[in-house]
Amino acid sequence: MNQNKDVDNKMDPTSLKLRGTSKMDKIVNLCKRRGFIFPTSEIYGGTGSVWDYGSLGVLLKNNVKAAWWRDMVQMRDDIVPQDSAILMNPKVWEASGHISSFHDPLVECSKCHKRYREDHLLEGKYGDVETQDGKPICLDKKCNGILMEAKQFNLMFKTFMGPVESSASVTYLRPETAQGIFANFKTVLDASRKKLPFGIAQIGKAFRNEITPGNFTFRTREFEQMEIEYFVTSSQNIAKNEKRKTKNIMDDKDYYKYWIEERFKWYLKYGINKENLRKREHEKDELAHYAKGATDVEYKFPFGWSELEGIAHRADFDLSQHEKHSGKDMKYFDEETKKKFWPYVIEPSAGADRATLAFLVDAFEEVTSDKQQVTSRKPGEIVLHLHPKLAPYKVAILPLVKNKPEITKIAKDIYDEFKQFWFISYDEVSSIGRRYRRQDEIGTPYCVTIDFDSIKDKSVTVRDRDTMKQERIKIKELAGYLMTKIC
Ligand code: GAP
Repeated sequence: MNQNKDVDNKMDPTSLKLRGTSKMDKIVNLCKRRGFIFPTSEIYGGTGSVWDYGSLGVLLKNNVKAAWWRDMVQMRDDIVPQDSAILMNPKVWEASGHISSFHDPLVECSKCHKRYREDHLLEGKYGDVETQDGKPICLDKKCNGILMEAKQFNLMFKTFMGPVESSASVTYLRPETAQGIFANFKTVLDASRKKLPFGIAQIGKAFRNEITPGNFTFRTREFEQMEIEYFVTSSQNIAKNEKRKTKNIMDDKDYYKYWIEERFKWYLKYGINKENLRKREHEKDELAHYAKGATDVEYKFPFGWSELEGIAHRADFDLSQHEKHSGKDMKYFDEETKKKFWPYVIEPSAGADRATLAFLVDAFEEVTSDKQQVTSRKPGEIVLHLHPKLAPYKVAILPLVKNKPEITKIAKDIYDEFKQFWFISYDEVSSIGRRYRRQDEIGTPYCVTIDFDSIKDKSVTVRDRDTMKQERIKIKELAGYLMTKIC
C-alpha cells in the first residue's frame, strides 16, 4: 500500500551538520538559526525524524494550510470541512486494509540491526550494495554484517486505549486523515445536504513509523496532511441514465484529470517555479490495490524529484469496505434516478510539511558574486522570496532611530494598526541595512521605514524585498497600498 517512489535519505536530525555547504544544509541551518524548524526535544539529542516548528515556522506552515483551506474549502461551494479524531476505532484500519497491507518490505542487518527498505535497496537508492557469498552486506561500512531476508513491516504506530494493555485495547495513531472522512461520509452528507459531486476536506496530523525517514521534513514519522475526498458519480452510473448522458456530465475519469490540473496549478499560484514542478503518473505495478489510477505532483528538491502530493482515483473501494466491515449502509441515494450506489472517489492528498518545505526551498536565494553587481546585496546574503500570502511576516516596521519619540510614536501607531490585519514585525535594533537583511532572510515582503522627514511630510518609505525598490507613501494611504500588494 505504501508505494513511496520518492527519495529517502540519510540526513539524521540528531547529527545535523550545521556548517554544511549544500543548498539543503543551508536551508536546514537557516531554519534552525531563525527559528523556523528544528529537531524535537533537541536537548536530549532529538528523536527519530520528528521536527518542531518555531515561531516563524508556525506562521509559514499556518499560511500554507490557510491558503489551501481558502482555495479548496472556503472559495468552493462543493467542498465541506471536517475534523476527525486521531484515535479511531481500530476496525477502521481493518476495513481500509491498513492492518493487512500498510507495509514496507524491510531488511535488517544481522549484526548492528540497522534496517533498510528492500525496494529502495533493489532500486539502487542506497548506491551499490556489496555482497559476501552472494548475500548483501550492511550499508554501514563499519559493520559488514549480512542483511537478512526481507520482512513486511507495518507502518502504523500501535498504542493502547484505556488502562489495560491487552490485545483487546490495541488502537493506532492514524496513518492518514482520509479514513476519518470515509467513516463519516453518511453523517456529513446528511448534515450538509450536498449532492454529487461534492467533497469533504480535512487538515490534520498523521503518523507513520517510516523505516527510512529523512531529508529534513520531507519524510517524517509525524506530519500533517491536507486531504480532500471528492465523491462523484461513476461513468457506469451516468451511462445507465440516458437523460444524464446527453447533459455531458463529468464522470470519475474527468474529475480525476480535473483534480490533477487544479492541484498542479495551486503550487504555481503560490510561487513555485514552473520548471521545478511536474506530474508523474504511476505505472500499473506501482498502484495501491484500491487505486484505479494515481498521479503525483512532484517537486525538484535539491535531493531529486520527489512526491509533493498524490491524486488518486480510489473508485468505491473505501465506502464499500466500510459498509462491509461496519454493516452500515454507506451508499448515496440519487434523487433524480432513484438509484443507490457507492460514489467513486477522487483523492487529492497533500502534505502540509512537504508543501512548506517546497515553498521554502523554491524561495531560497543565496546571493552570488555576479548578482551583486546588479543589486547592492553582498555575496552570501540570503533572501527568501516567499509569496506574500505565505510569508510569516507581511510587513516590518522600522523606525530609523529608536531615540526620537516623534519617529517611534509614528512607527508604533502604524504597528498597532497593522497588527490587526497581519502578523508583522517591529525592529529598531541596529543599522537600517542590517535590519533589511534580517527581514530578507525570513521572507518579509515589505519594510516600512519611518525617518526624520516622516515627521513633516507624514510619509514613509516602503521597500520591496524582491526588487529592493523604495517608494515614498503617505501614511494615510499606506494600509490600502499594502493591502493590494499582500491580499
Ligand atoms: N490518503 C492517501 C495518502 O495518505 P500518501 O501518498 O501516502 O497518500 C499523501 O500521502 C501525502 O502525505 C504525500 O504526498 C506527502 O505529501 C504526505 N506524506 C506522506 N507520508 C509522509 C511522511 N512520512 N512525512 C511527510 N509527509 C508525508
